[in-house]
Amino acid sequence: MNRVAVLGSANADLVVEVDRRPGAGETLLGSDLQVFAGGKGANQASSAARSGATTSFIACVGDDDNGMLLRTALEDAGVDTSGMRHVDRPTGTALILVTPDGENSIVVSPGANQALDVAAADAAVPRWADRDVLVLNLESPLETVEHAAEVAAGRGVRVLLNAAPAHPLSTETLAVCDPLVVNEHEARILADDGGSRSFEELAAVLLERGVRSVVITLGAEGALFGDAGGIGTVPSHAVDVVDTTGAGDAFVGAMACELSRGASLSAAVAFATAVAAVSVQSMGAQSSYPRRGEVERWLDAIRHVTA
Ligand code: RIB
Repeated sequence: MNRVAVLGSANADLVVEVDRRPGAGETLLGSDLQVFAGGKGANQASSAARSGATTSFIACVGDDDNGMLLRTALEDAGVDTSGMRHVDRPTGTALILVTPDGENSIVVSPGANQALDVAAADAAVPRWADRDVLVLNLESPLETVEHAAEVAAGRGVRVLLNAAPAHPLSTETLAVCDPLVVNEHEARILADDGGSRSFEELAAVLLERGVRSVVITLGAEGALFGDAGGIGTVPSHAVDVVDTTGAGDAFVGAMACELSRGASLSAAVAFATAVAAVSVQSMGAQSSYPRRGEVERWLDAIRHVTA
């Protein structure tokens, strides 16, 4: 109970704040460089652990300073990092520009993340194949993700697949997602939709394609969730946004924690929405993630203000 494994990517996030994004061929001056622990998998593991889940992380990093930065940050969050391997490639790196509205542009150099192949996943099976929930995303090789999803589902582990960055998935993989977590852009790609469908229709299409449950994150508009029991929504919280980097990962990790405790999909989405709202109020990905007590106090405070 309340045991989560994340098999996925780890990156050092090299962040520069800029007034606006540069155009082609243009040079802009920005802020001092800030280096944060990031990567979708590492972020999701950090969020799950801070939310209270016993969390193990399976990943590949380089034998370099960024690899150590990630290991230390995850251990501080309470993540079991014994499944992190150091390989002969540079640790994954993300080059991130953050604009004054808190939005970001990201280019990832995967580096060591590419070494998380099927053999590496299989070698780590004892660390992820008997948990309550396995979290996967698409910053790792697709073949590894689809293999792990199949093995986990075959062993009765609930698979939470965050299809980010966007990429089509096999019918077999879609069939074990419980839930599939996507943003609007990713949902439209997986549903082969050019932009005409409503969010409810997108969720219905993805359920028809076989996912057991689906969550579509909608930024400032909250989130929509659906399963065989129907479709529901959770509103977002109005907050002052500083940096949205990793907010989706905060959401995914917190939701995995809640599902691993036996929470309903709607309750898990509600808690995850609060975690994501806290996370966007400060810079960086993992550095902005709250621990469970902080989220509960924040929720109490905003209830008090709105009562
Ligand atoms: O989802 C945010 C993450 O995407 C960043 O931490 C960056 O590393 C990229 O992987």
